[in-house]
Amino acid sequence: MSESTAVKFKNPRARYNFLGRTCSIASVGSYVPKKVLTNADLEKLVDTSDEWILTRTGIRERRIAAKDEFTSDLAAKAATKAMAKAGITPDKIDLIIVATVTPDMPFPATACLVQQKIGASRAAAFDIEAACSGFIYALEIGQQFIMSRTYDTVLVIGAEKLSSIVNWRDRNTCVLFGDGAGAAILQNRPNSHGLLTAVMGADGSKADLLGLPGGGSRHPASIESVKAGLHYLQMDGPETYKNAIEAMYNAAREALARCELDVSQIKCIIPHQANRRIIDAVAKRLGARPDQVFVNLDKYGNTSAASVAIALDEAVESGRIKRGDLVLLVVFGAGLTWGAAVIEW
Ligand code: UT7
Repeated sequence: MSESTAVKFKNPRARYNFLGRTCSIASVGSYVPKKVLTNADLEKLVDTSDEWILTRTGIRERRIAAKDEFTSDLAAKAATKAMAKAGITPDKIDLIIVATVTPDMPFPATACLVQQKIGASRAAAFDIEAACSGFIYALEIGQQFIMSRTYDTVLVIGAEKLSSIVNWRDRNTCVLFGDGAGAAILQNRPNSHGLLTAVMGADGSKADLLGLPGGGSRHPASIESVKAGLHYLQMDGPETYKNAIEAMYNAAREALARCELDVSQIKCIIPHQANRRIIDAVAKRLGARPDQVFVNLDKYGNTSAASVAIALDEAVESGRIKRGDLVLLVVFGAGLTWGAAVIEW
């Protein structure tokens, strides 16, 4: 789709060049910690095997942040790369949104710590929490500020240090997650390509399926809460699995329908990287060809809010996505939450 054939959507929730403004992703950047933890390493920690992890999830290895490397550090490194690629200096950033379930601390916001680390002293800053769906939620929030003419340049980051909340004695969860960050610079670019639509959804009646129960107002930190393991991530894997496929499929369908697109028109589908079997099932239900789907979970595992942001950066860097291509992001996470976005790159 080129500018000359730019779609004028009937659905008001699909936007393109709305009142002369377009929310464009000017650049993306990502950062993963150096330390690699392989399935073979995990065999030494818990009763598991490379074969089980690979066949049940598709994960081969994941990255683990250093003890003194925090979510704000990963986020700042991804943001610095994104700013360099967009050719902008930190003073141009109006707003920083960090999506994370592993903030440096309950408050202040990790976004404020990132603001200081990258020197974006003009920017407002806040965190959002939509678990693994956080990056799409943050993209949509950033877009709202741009389309409403409030801001011109928004830095959106998905960043996680999940190794800090994983129970390394629980084989059901510790093999699945990894650390990393991805960032995008959103800018108003009149008559340019951009975010066409973003679907967001939630179902709080299934909040118990996946979460970290301790440390909030319900179970404040105490000796008892620590002994009960409430400060570790907990997940009902099989139930989460079933809900993930359904919610991702529905979100992707809605996003495509809003833009009057068929899945065959999408150049690259970037799904949340939680489980290869979930990705394959969603792609199959959508009627997508395997070569349309981008997968990198073998290298990083599930990095929650950072997942699609890191994958988007790798897809662009590797040439899988070029200017003008249509891209579909689709995510799912705790809450439950889900989302999908269509981008004309
Ligand atoms: O990012 C947010 C969303 N998260 C997700 O989307 C994750 C969704 N869930 C999943 O990806 C999958 O449910 C898992 C990968 C977590 C588990 O796969 P599964 O095929 O649903 O396996 P299961 O939970 O049914 O477990 C099968 C067996 C169990 O043994 P029994 O009870 O049948 O004897 C588990 O104890 O596999 C066992 N098991 C393991 N065995 C070796 C669970 N974890 C492991 C392990 N190594 N690491």
